Amino acid sequence: MANLLVIHGPNLNLLGEREPDHYGYEKLEDINRRLESIARAAGHSLECFQSNAEHALVERIQSARHECIAFIIINAAAYTHTSIALRDALAAVAIPFVEVHLSNVYRREPFRHRSYLSDIALGVVAGLGPLSYDCALRAILGMLDRALP
Ligand code: DQA
Repeated sequence: MANLLVIHGPNLNLLGEREPDHYGYEKLEDINRRLESIARAAGHSLECFQSNAEHALVERIQSARHECIAFIIINAAAYTHTSIALRDALAAVAIPFVEVHLSNVYRREPFRHRSYLSDIALGVVAGLGPLSYDCALRAILGMLDRALP
């Protein structure tokens, strides 16, 4: 059994009501419940964490190193494009992570094209709406399967 951590950055608590053209209508709670149940069905545990505060996200990533977290799925939201602190935290804990975005950031404003995370991520999934999270999780479950004897 592996422990998985999903981290959501600022404003993702408003999913479902926030700019649905970009982010869809599914609420964060519903995404979280679905991911937890997919992980549980595969025999793993998955915890979700959301914060609007950069320091809280950094602290949650730092705590992961004492919790035997095998993989992180992170949608750092706007901090993707600004936060060297989040990048440093992810590099420091050295837990493999998948960067996720609901929207296709490359079809949007140029300031969203830069990510401080992508080049140290295991992979990036963007533009598939809430299914971006599912894709990241399915890929991780596939990797866990292959690592098992
Ligand atoms: C986002 C894309 C970011 O540019 C934006 O700031 C978000 C959400 C996405 O999931 O598409 O808040 O990460």
